[in-house]
Amino acid sequence: MLTRLADIEAAALNELEAIQDLKQIEAFEVRFLGKKGDLTLLLRETGKLPEAERPAFGARVNEAKKSLGARLEERKAGLGRQALERRIREETLDATLPGRPPLGPGREHLLPRTTDEICAIFAKLGFNVETGPEVEDGFHNFDALNFPPDHPSRDTQDSYFLGEQLLRTHTSTVQVRVMRRQRPPIRMVAPGRVFRRDATDATHSPQFHQVEGLAVDAFGKVRFSDLKGTLQTFAGLMFGARLEVRLRPSFFPFTEPSCEVDVQCFKCMGKGCGLCKQSGWIEIMGAGMVNPAVFQAVGYDPAQVSGYAFGMGVERIAMLKHGIDDIRLFYENDLRFLRQF
Ligand code: PHE
Repeated sequence: MLTRLADIEAAALNELEAIQDLKQIEAFEVRFLGKKGDLTLLLRETGKLPEAERPAFGARVNEAKKSLGARLEERKAGLGRQALERRIREETLDATLPGRPPLGPGREHLLPRTTDEICAIFAKLGFNVETGPEVEDGFHNFDALNFPPDHPSRDTQDSYFLGEQLLRTHTSTVQVRVMRRQRPPIRMVAPGRVFRRDATDATHSPQFHQVEGLAVDAFGKVRFSDLKGTLQTFAGLMFGARLEVRLRPSFFPFTEPSCEVDVQCFKCMGKGCGLCKQSGWIEIMGAGMVNPAVFQAVGYDPAQVSGYAFGMGVERIAMLKHGIDDIRLFYENDLRFLRQF
């Protein structure tokens, strides 16, 4: 058995010196020094020897393991050094290669830019910019706005509730907040994010942006014709042409009368095209005269004041203005899309 040990030792040393890379070192370690390695197996056979010879033999094998292990560590370190030196030699930096083009300057996302554009137009017309919280209560989102107790949007199917509170479903909440803390005259716009339980598709997203408008003054001073004139001016400045505005009867609990606001199609100037589905008109927002019930809810005397309100979707305005056909493009942050604006 001592001869076998000597043979194994000699073979191992030979092999170890011939090894060229770290991978082979690992295989070597397993084969000679591992749990099922040649030396370990030999050690297990110690029992076959006469008892008197066992301790000496065991000691010899362990000695062999130790010296082989030491040499192995030396070779490992040497090979590691060689590999590092090779990398340093080969992976040189070629400073003459052309540089990478810079990312380029950042720019504002189209959505806040459109929001700012809308607010800037109304600022010119004398409107302040107001904001309110995205997490609201039922009073500001529904009750004060004259929603009946059984209105479908109060259902958890349609709105995101957070216990007693909810994510606001529209920016009309800000009308309520401003009127509760301020006396007329009021002229304000309120930009902000709103949330509805809608399935996502090309024109719907569970979160989107609105700009709300509100004008309130002494009874009779703010009329339906003021609403129409203001929105006509807005449409002209926003879409860059002198465009007709058309009001169609509609319904909102917080306005009476209520209307949908259409602008003359700015692509075909009303002749009829794909964008306006041949109608010559494009719907851009909801509006109406503030319902007396809302004045009552915020503590105004409905006999003393009158006002109008409107609310538009920012994504919709931007899509119309820039010919964007899918609302999801706003949120995907694909630079190829964003850089176009
Ligand atoms: N809050 C309405 C909506 O989200 C829009 C609107 C605002 C309509 C103000 C009339 C007046 O659909």
